[in-house]
Amino acid sequence: MRVLVTGGTGYIGSHTTVELLNLGHEVVIVDNLYNSNIHVLDRIERLCHQRPKFYEVDILDKEKLRTVFKENEFDAVIHFAGYKAVGESVSKPITYYQNNIAGSLNLYELMNEYGVYNIVFSSSATVYGDNFEVPFKEEYGLGDTTNPYGTTKKFNEMILSDIAKAHEKFSIVLLRYFNPIGAHPSGLLGEVPNGIPNNLVPYIAKVANGELPCLNVFGDDYDTKDGTGVRDYIHVVDLAKAHIKAIEYASKHNGVEVINVGSGKGYTVLEVLKAYEKACHKTLPYKISPRRPGDIATCYADTHKAKQLLDFEVEFDIDKMCEDSYNFTLKNPNGIE
Ligand code: NAD
Ligand code: UD1
Repeated sequence: MRVLVTGGTGYIGSHTTVELLNLGHEVVIVDNLYNSNIHVLDRIERLCHQRPKFYEVDILDKEKLRTVFKENEFDAVIHFAGYKAVGESVSKPITYYQNNIAGSLNLYELMNEYGVYNIVFSSSATVYGDNFEVPFKEEYGLGDTTNPYGTTKKFNEMILSDIAKAHEKFSIVLLRYFNPIGAHPSGLLGEVPNGIPNNLVPYIAKVANGELPCLNVFGDDYDTKDGTGVRDYIHVVDLAKAHIKAIEYASKHNGVEVINVGSGKGYTVLEVLKAYEKACHKTLPYKISPRRPGDIATCYADTHKAKQLLDFEVEFDIDKMCEDSYNFTLKNPNGIE
């Protein structure tokens, strides 16, 4: 297939591009390099012995995006491009709605205009909110989001569902990611957070390499086995592979499907810390801090639908996720350059 990957130089997009190229698909990346850099393409080339076609284009610039559709014929789109920092979305809601909603609408409009009807969208488990019991099942629908970032995911799901209703040729897969972590086992690709990380594993990685003194564990009084928050972590390479299954599914079906992508297992913050200690062969300091506002106690996926519709199951466990994260951190002290 010829696949347009928006946000393809980013963390999940770059890993997905590698899996697509390795399976013989053609990839065209559109990214404005807001949260990634051009050297990611060199890394992809080293891994796949080919360089994907790249357009440095902001999806908010509809005319430049139109050029991409004019110059290429696509079978499918995987739409990763967007802003993703929860805290920042609270202080900059207009920016987040502009980029994640207006930018996405430009893309959907051009897809319709150029007859590209298959799309996989990066949604998030955050759309379940705090409304439901674990494991989260797709049939629960959309909960109450607690920040503008989450709301942009919910709105995109609603917009795409309406598009599928109105335009019967569309085939849409809404992938609700749980917590993607880890890095490519080669150490060539991984997550490079800007500044002090907000998410757990990127933060632990910086404690492990000595950049930060100690992990703050946000709350130890949740109703979980050790009192710390439980999440469903998934290796980014497993997540990338789920996208291949999802575009294959989209190319053979019409309508819209919501599919969780997680491991189905929950780990506490302290369990993740232990796994990381094993990976880096060090004891990592931590202290218990107050709960982080907006956090829920427990979040993990019901994975039956992914298995049933996509025949998708994760391969890598939490130890491998931490090993690959640490390997990437050690090999790339200054990020991808
Ligand atoms: P990322 O920031 O590494 O990648 C996103 C890419 O999109 C970046 O390369 C960025 O430069 C690009 N981009 C942003 N706005 C753009 C625009 N207007 N035009 C063109 N390019 C633009 O993020 P990621 O972790 O790879 O996440 C990919 C997608 O998955 C995002 O939509 C994110 O919200 C979603 N998601 C991520 C997680 C996670 O934990 N990483 C969880 C759930 C959902
Ligand atoms: C966060 C976002 C969610 C987003 C997801 C992407 C919030 C409230 N939620 O989810 O919308 O889709 O990232 O991966 O930001 N923790 C610590 N110390 C830290 C960092 C985290 O104890 O320094 C704990 C958290 O309280 C939580 C767990 O680690 O229990 C995981 O946190 P994180 O990696 O930020 O992911 P989520 O909160 O699940």
